[in-house]
Amino acid sequence: TMKSQEHFQVKEASYTRLCSSKNILTVNGQFPGPTIYAKKGETIIVDVYNKGKENITIHWHGVSMPRYPWTDGPEYITQCPIQPGSKFSQKIILSFEEGTLWWHAHSDWTRATVHGAIIIYPKNGTKYPFPKPDAEVPIILGEWWKSDVNAVRDEGLATGADPNVSDSFLINGQPGDLLPCSKSSTFKLTVDHGKTYLLRIICAALHEPLFFSIAKHKMTVVGTDGSYTKPLTRDYITIYPGQTYDVLLEANQHPDHYYMAAKTYSSAPGSPNAFDNTTTTAIVQYRGYYTPSSPPSLPHFPAYNDTNASVQVMAGLRSLADAEHPCNVPLSPSTKLIYTVSMNSFLCPNNSCGGPNGTRFAASINNISFQSPTIDILQAYYYNISGVYGDKFPSVPPLVFDFTNDILPLEYQIPKNRTEVRVLEYNSTVEIVFQGTSLISGTTHPMHLHGYSFYVVGWGFGNFDKNKDPLHYNLVDPPLQSTISVPTKGWAAIRFEASNPGVWFMHCHVERHLTWGMETAFIVKNGKHLEAEMLPPPSDMPPC
Ligand code: C2O
Ligand code: CU
Repeated sequence: TMKSQEHFQVKEASYTRLCSSKNILTVNGQFPGPTIYAKKGETIIVDVYNKGKENITIHWHGVSMPRYPWTDGPEYITQCPIQPGSKFSQKIILSFEEGTLWWHAHSDWTRATVHGAIIIYPKNGTKYPFPKPDAEVPIILGEWWKSDVNAVRDEGLATGADPNVSDSFLINGQPGDLLPCSKSSTFKLTVDHGKTYLLRIICAALHEPLFFSIAKHKMTVVGTDGSYTKPLTRDYITIYPGQTYDVLLEANQHPDHYYMAAKTYSSAPGSPNAFDNTTTTAIVQYRGYYTPSSPPSLPHFPAYNDTNASVQVMAGLRSLADAEHPCNVPLSPSTKLIYTVSMNSFLCPNNSCGGPNGTRFAASINNISFQSPTIDILQAYYYNISGVYGDKFPSVPPLVFDFTNDILPLEYQIPKNRTEVRVLEYNSTVEIVFQGTSLISGTTHPMHLHGYSFYVVGWGFGNFDKNKDPLHYNLVDPPLQSTISVPTKGWAAIRFEASNPGVWFMHCHVERHLTWGMETAFIVKNGKHLEAEMLPPPSDMPPC
C-alpha cells in the first residue's frame, strides 16, 4: 500500500534465529523492516521515533534527495543522531530514481537489523521498460549474529583485529533449511508455471559480497540501484553490500520446488574460514499437484574466490540509453580525481594489537583514514562553524606507486587520521577513478556515493592507465549506479555532474571498512539561481 506518511518506531524486539533468542533493534518490531512503496516523483515523510536505548540515524540509500541533504541520514555527516526518546521527521524526495532502493540505519553497525526496501513504481502514465511481471517480491539478503553486532564492532575496534564474522546469511530475515533450527521458517516464494516474477534483490549484508542464484532457472537483470538496464540474462548474480538488482524470474521449469540461495564471494587469500561460508536458502515452490523431489536442488555456485565469475554481471551491465531514459554522462569532465582505496595495518606499541603480527587494521582513501567529527559537517558548513572539517581532501599528495604490486613500501601502511572533504563547484563535471591497492591484501570495495547516481564508464584489473584506459570507456550506455564494486587489485571509473548542492557522504559499504576509515565527503556548492541552492533545514534537526 502506498502512503505519503510513515511512522518508524525504532525499538527493541525479541527474535529467534539459529536456535537462540535475542533482542534486536527493529523498526515497528519488524525484521526486516517495513517496505516503503512510492511512485517516481513523490515525496514521503517518515516520522522516526527513537524508542530504543541507543542513538540512531536513518538513511534512504540511493535516493538523491535533491537540494535537501538535511534528512539524508549519515551520522555526523548530515545530522547528529536522534537520541533515545526523540523524534525526527524525515523527507524522502524521490525525483529521479525508479526501481528498488532501500533504507537503513547509518550509525554504528545497527543497520544489521534496521533496514528495509524502498520500491519506486513508474509515474502514472508511464510503464516498466519490460513486460509487466505477474507479481513482485522483495528479496533482502542480510546477516545474523548470535551476539550483539555493536559489541562485535567495539571488540574489533578495541583489539585492532578483524571482527568476528556473522553466524549466517539471511533471505528475507531467515537463514534457510541448511542452518540449524531454521527449516520451518525458511522463506518460500510460491509460483505458477508460465508466470514471470520481478525479484527486487537488496544486499543488506554488512560485510560480504554474495553470489545469488536460483536452481535450474535463469535470471534476467533489468535494473540496478534504482535505474533500469538493458536485459542481461545470467545463471547467478554477484551483489555487493549496498547494491540492488531488479531481476525477472520466469517460472518455466518442471513443477517442483527449487532452492534460491546466496553465499560469499571473497577475493581475500586464505581459508574460507575467514568469512561466513554458510549458504542461505529460500524455496521457489511451483503450485500444483506433484511429488516434490527431496531435497530441492541447490543452484551451482562459482568457487568462493572465483574473481572472474564475480565480474560477470558488472561486465554486461548497460543502461537503456533510449529516448525515455537518456544517458547524460559527462563527456569531458572538468574535475578528475584518483582515489586510492586501501586496507592498512600498522604496528601497535609493543606489537600489542590483535591483527596480524601485533598490528591494528585501518582503511583509507588516498592514505587518509576519515575521523568522524562530533558535530555534523552539513551544519558546520551551513552555519560556518570552523574547526570541524578540512576542505582540502586529499591533503596529502597523491601516492605514486605500483598500486597492485604485492610488495609496497612500509610507509604506505600507515594512514593519516583526518576529517577532510572535497569542495565541488555547482555543475562541475566529475570523474573519480577508484584505484584498489594490494596493501595488506587486495579486496573488493563497494564504493557508495550519497546524493547522486553516477555513470560507471570503465573498470579493470591492475593499475589504472590514464593514457590508455579512458580510450575504452563506455560513453554510450554506461550503467547508472550508486554503489560500484571496485574489483580486487583493480579500478573503476565513475562520472557525474555535481548538480545537487549539499554535503554528500562517500564510503565503502563494507561496514568494517567504513568503521576503519574508508570514507570522505563532498561539499557541492550552491549555484547562482534559487533553484540551484540548498533548501533551508527543517526546524526539528536533532541537536548535537
Ligand atoms: Cu547504504 Cu552511506 O549508505
Ligand atoms: Cu571496502
